[in-house]
Amino acid sequence: MKFPYSEKVLEHFKNPKNVGKIEEADGKGMEGSPACGDMVAVYLDVNEETMIIEDAKFESYGCASNIATASIITEMAKGKTLEEAKKITWKEATEELGGLPPVKAHCSVLAVEGLRAAIRDYEEKHGLITENEPTTVDVVRSRLKHVMNPMAGLDIIRTELVSKIEVNDGVVRILIDLPSTHQFAAAIKEDTLEKIESLWDVKEVNIVFTE
Ligand code: FES
Repeated sequence: MKFPYSEKVLEHFKNPKNVGKIEEADGKGMEGSPACGDMVAVYLDVNEETMIIEDAKFESYGCASNIATASIITEMAKGKTLEEAKKITWKEATEELGGLPPVKAHCSVLAVEGLRAAIRDYEEKHGLITENEPTTVDVVRSRLKHVMNPMAGLDIIRTELVSKIEVNDGVVRILIDLPSTHQFAAAIKEDTLEKIESLWDVKEVNIVFTE
């Protein structure tokens, strides 16, 4: 059987570049595809003075096309400034790979969204975002779509692990439908805090597990 993929896609799938996690990454993004439910995480190390991406890695919970695109865009992003890397499009990444079947476009979009989320995370943590949308329950919910439920390989919103979100005067309270002693509770808490604490008007985040 002939695969509908270019040699380059197959090469990046079989021997992907930049696979893994950067511990203490300067910027970290997790995105999920509404089309297929797969997820990708992108990690960046950025030179604070030059704004150049010095290292980029990814973890893919997606298909061959997603792995190949994440591999190529992390290669493309390294050595670029954040502003330059933001302009990398899924079409460019796909061209660089020698094309993808049209039905696989969303896999490539997912990888690029992961990179953009990691850039945005860096910008938020460094006070580089100037538009100040007030934090609401919807803003928190959309942020939590980037926190993975390791039991399901999907985010904690889509897997209904979050039973309630309250936002009052800069204090965010999130109820998670999991015992605090669960093996993944600490990891989910850490990821959740990271996503919500960086919002500009949030003063306190309380995460409550079921007992
Ligand atoms: Fe989900 Fe490709 S089918 S990322």
